[in-house]
Amino acid sequence: MPDEPFRTIIEPFRIHSVEPMRLTTREQRAAALAATGYNLFEVRAEDVLIDLLTDSGTGAMSAEQWAGIQRGNEAYAGAPSFYRFRDAVTSLFPFRHILPAHQGRAAEHILFTAAGGPGLVIPNNTHFDTTRANVEVSGAQAVDLPIPEGLHPAQRHPFKGNMDVAALGRLLASQADAVPLVMLTVTNNSGGGQPVSMANIRAVREVCNRYGKPLFLDACRFAENAWFIRTREAGYADVPVADIVREMAGLADGMTMSAKKDPLANIGGWLGLNDDSLAERCRNLEILTEGFPTYGGLAGRDLEAIAQGLRECTDHDYLSYRVRSVAYLGEALEAAGVPCVVPFGGHAVFIDARGMLPHIDPLQYPGQALACALYAEGGVRSCEIGTVMFGLHPDGTESPAALDLVRLAIPRRTYTQSHMDYVIEVVARVASRAAELPGMRIVSQPRQLRHFTARFAPLR
Ligand SMILES: Cc1ncc(COP(=O)(O)O)c(C=O)c1O
Repeated sequence: MPDEPFRTIIEPFRIHSVEPMRLTTREQRAAALAATGYNLFEVRAEDVLIDLLTDSGTGAMSAEQWAGIQRGNEAYAGAPSFYRFRDAVTSLFPFRHILPAHQGRAAEHILFTAAGGPGLVIPNNTHFDTTRANVEVSGAQAVDLPIPEGLHPAQRHPFKGNMDVAALGRLLASQADAVPLVMLTVTNNSGGGQPVSMANIRAVREVCNRYGKPLFLDACRFAENAWFIRTREAGYADVPVADIVREMAGLADGMTMSAKKDPLANIGGWLGLNDDSLAERCRNLEILTEGFPTYGGLAGRDLEAIAQGLRECTDHDYLSYRVRSVAYLGEALEAAGVPCVVPFGGHAVFIDARGMLPHIDPLQYPGQALACALYAEGGVRSCEIGTVMFGLHPDGTESPAALDLVRLAIPRRTYTQSHMDYVIEVVARVASRAAELPGMRIVSQPRQLRHFTARFAPLR
């Protein structure tokens, strides 16, 4: 008789060591908000109970990863840890050149210093904030081309992270000479953690071929993306995730990567590419900013942790639990009447703050208002992904972002179901008095990446 599957999808791991969390009072949290100018990036981690600010570098490592840390070889050049790292990367992403970097944005900085520049245009399904900033710092223009469904939080689409291929075709038809490369972000973080289908990657590849343009993946969440392809795209139900990843990689000419996401490491990243002459320019830049190309800003032990994490993150039981636990949170919030981006993505639940707080104008930052309210209510830290993050332009003007979202990012293998039940209660309580929440104004801000350091004040 075939095994009847159980309805409960459990965490496929036991707790190995524990880290205490500090409960705070409402008064303590109000004081922390006032002292930090209502910027949750400035709040101390000890003052946060459930930290859903990011899934980046916040996951729990496995016993085998900690064993890898002990194996770390710290030779300046040619360490065995580098070759174990490179082999683990190329077993999934067989690019000719793999340049380690201390995190994803360092890889982006190297790539766009070498391949960007004034007058150039970089299309992407949706640039992540650091990717956009690195493109713009080079003098190039970052253009987002999501499919129309990607801009509507309530509209369901199995691959809402897809790029608008027709729009890419139009862009290349009118300014092909200005486009040095095309990027695809998998999954599409700023667009709601939504996956990109294999059919879409293939279609983008075909347009790139027509114009002779290289395609780069911003592949931070490749394993979650591949899991969605396996579970949602026709023809992939029986294909192992690792093979799906190799097929995705085979359609690209290079990648930027943050190992702080799917590879289950606390630090790290890399740049992968096939073009020998671009690789040489990038390697020279890497030596200047990150270090020798066999360590690239990382200790040998970090390279070991990434290599082992890469083996673990394509495991089907892990990915099934991962995607299910995100949907568990999302479904409960939806049931409580909280407007969310649907369907739920791979690493986070995105609350539609503009939909939840229609009385707050986008230029009074409904996402920031909601994120602060969640912290004040229950010590839950989240992240605004909206007008604060994307509304300020290089020329100093400001306009509303396409969406005002609050991201509840779930660190990998870190929190349990009861932690999520607590988060659900906190969000539902804030939602029940949403009409009372005030908008925010900016008191001070830098010219770039303002969400990290801007200071805010409530409007009343
Ligand atoms: C899609 C995407 N690209 C790039 C990055 C940058 O990676 P890192 O934080 O390692 O610099 C992130 C980080 O959150 C991301 O989500």
